[in-house]
Amino acid sequence: MITAALPYANGLKHIGHLAGAYLPADIYVRYLRAQRRDVVFVCGSDEHGTAIPIQAMKEGTTPRAIIDKYHALIKQNFADLGISFDIYHRTSEPLHHETTQEFFTALNSRGELDVRESEQYFDEEAKTFLADRYIIGTCPVCGNTRAYGDQCENCGSSLSPEMLIDPHSTLSGKAPVKRSTKHWYLPLDKYEGFLRDWILKDHKDDWKTNVLGQCKSWIDGGLQPRAVTRDLDWGVKVPLPDAEGKVLYVWFDAPIGYISATKQWAIDQGKDWKPYWYDKDTQLVHFIGKDNIVFHCIIFPIMLKLHGNILPANVPANEFMNLEGDKMSTSRNWKLDMQDYIDDFIKKENGGSQLADTLRYYLTTISPEAKDSEFTWKGFQDANNSELVSIFGNFVNRTFVLMHKLCKGKVPPLHTDLLDDIDRSLIRDIEAAKGKVERLLEQYKFREALFEVIDLSRKGNKYMQEKEPWKKVTGGAVTEENQLLIDNCLHICLQLTANLAILINPFLPYTAQKMLHLMKVVDKILDWENAGKLKLLSVGYSLRAPELLFRKIEDDEVKLQIDKLQAAAERQGMAPAAPVDVKKEATATLKPQIVFDDFAKLELKIGHILAAEKVAKADKLLKLEVDLGNERRTIVSGIALHFKPEEIVGKQVVVVANLAPRKMKGIESNGMILMAEDKNGQLHFVSPEKAIAPGSGVS
Ligand code: MF3
Ligand code: ZN
Repeated sequence: MITAALPYANGLKHIGHLAGAYLPADIYVRYLRAQRRDVVFVCGSDEHGTAIPIQAMKEGTTPRAIIDKYHALIKQNFADLGISFDIYHRTSEPLHHETTQEFFTALNSRGELDVRESEQYFDEEAKTFLADRYIIGTCPVCGNTRAYGDQCENCGSSLSPEMLIDPHSTLSGKAPVKRSTKHWYLPLDKYEGFLRDWILKDHKDDWKTNVLGQCKSWIDGGLQPRAVTRDLDWGVKVPLPDAEGKVLYVWFDAPIGYISATKQWAIDQGKDWKPYWYDKDTQLVHFIGKDNIVFHCIIFPIMLKLHGNILPANVPANEFMNLEGDKMSTSRNWKLDMQDYIDDFIKKENGGSQLADTLRYYLTTISPEAKDSEFTWKGFQDANNSELVSIFGNFVNRTFVLMHKLCKGKVPPLHTDLLDDIDRSLIRDIEAAKGKVERLLEQYKFREALFEVIDLSRKGNKYMQEKEPWKKVTGGAVTEENQLLIDNCLHICLQLTANLAILINPFLPYTAQKMLHLMKVVDKILDWENAGKLKLLSVGYSLRAPELLFRKIEDDEVKLQIDKLQAAAERQGMAPAAPVDVKKEATATLKPQIVFDDFAKLELKIGHILAAEKVAKADKLLKLEVDLGNERRTIVSGIALHFKPEEIVGKQVVVVANLAPRKMKGIESNGMILMAEDKNGQLHFVSPEKAIAPGSGVS
């Protein structure tokens, strides 16, 4: 049971998304299919959540129009790039709504959910509760002034609306107020022990370290009950009589989308969906990007466990892919959409789907498996020209050209008595490649697995170079003995070509198909169990004339793309700043070195701002009342030009608690609040990542 994160149907998806989840998932699935394993690969559009109505607002249309538009586009983009889902479903389908409601009802009726009243942000002008995404403010972590109430897209931190500095509603632009509302909660905190055992013990050796690391820090950070309902009118309705105007949280319904997609697939295929989600022998694998880890490793597994389903066997999440030196970002228009690549490369020429493989190839070689990676157009060009064209493509082409020239276009016989060490060494490499690639794929190491395949073709080239069969022809004539040696060389090269088709197939499916065409053989030959065999092509079988597998990528194509990227970002008014020499800047402003004891003199504590007011006749000063746990302090702070008193009440801050008292405008200030200043001179509070008890020490 293989899943790839359901993309929000609120806009086009870029190649970072592709490389993070869909491409590795597709490679893995194609490999499993080649092994004839019972595999289902599901995906589909995530059509709920506030991302959708917000995009509708932007495009001046309805949520329904948005999901219909982007569902169709994204689905087609995946198809054009060879992502071979068994079903690409939609969370707006009635089957999904029913499945989700049943799931919720099952949990709720067994008493697994808690109901609580809480204070939530409300927009008085728009007369509606504000979902996290409808609240924008300054990110407490990086200072981005357009961070959302659930996440900062600049630094990737997950946030809650309370953490935003200067929150305001995207509907009215006004600062929201708090109002009481009722919601259903999944008590994540109850399952800490279960998660520790299941993830940190049972899977400590087979899950990726980046995934384990994130899980550990979520668990160590203390899990909180999580609301699974929202005050919103777009989504799956909460199936209870006393829940008017409430829908299920998008992260509750979306992963259940994997199950409803499986159900629909099973209906279409006349199969039973249940084993895929209940049978203990089923291996469930979620392919996702790193921003989805908490949902797939913590929240959804708890839901699955409570519901009696199987748990994921692995969640091989990837890190992010940058583009030409900067984070990929939709809001800053710094990205390469799948659509752009398809339009500029694949659709432009006959047989353009080969260029889907070029992209698949490069993205796999720079797959952000362990750390963030970087896409550059130059890198794309190099990978294509000096690896696909010059190594893999070149080997296959030479083999076909020489076979036509020296062996009458037919598979020559193998004369085993004439095999030498060079032949035997290559044969051993061919036999060994299957195991190597297989082991790496089983560990989700797609980059290295692909490297092994290319390496095998490199060995083929080297072999050809050592054997130089073309030199065995003198003046257009070949001796009988030389013909036997030529036969052996090309026989082995052709069997290697067939092997390469099998091994490359999960990664570059269009290339594998083209190779089948050249060899005039059927799909069945691509079965994984055929890899490592040397009798895939029968002696005497005549093969097609050579055709190049890949074309070169020219300099002007690359330049065009770089110019396009710059232009798009500039249109957005957000071209990346010229790279600064970070080291230089840092040292230029550094104070003299201190030792730890100097630092230890500071008493830093978390304070909670209880009240704030302007100081008369001092336009820069605010007088603050700060709770330090066991005491209350008056602190005068020079931040009045940056913050209104009412917007900072309730904030958590870091206080220098042992600073000598000092009078300002007649008020005694007992401490100091730490502030960070960004390069625009904007001030930001230095706050704990989430609210903790006032008085907590900072060190
Ligand atoms: N739509 C989410 C995103 O793009 C992913 C949802 S994955 C699912 O980040 F599991 F919830 F389906
Ligand atoms: Zn941020």
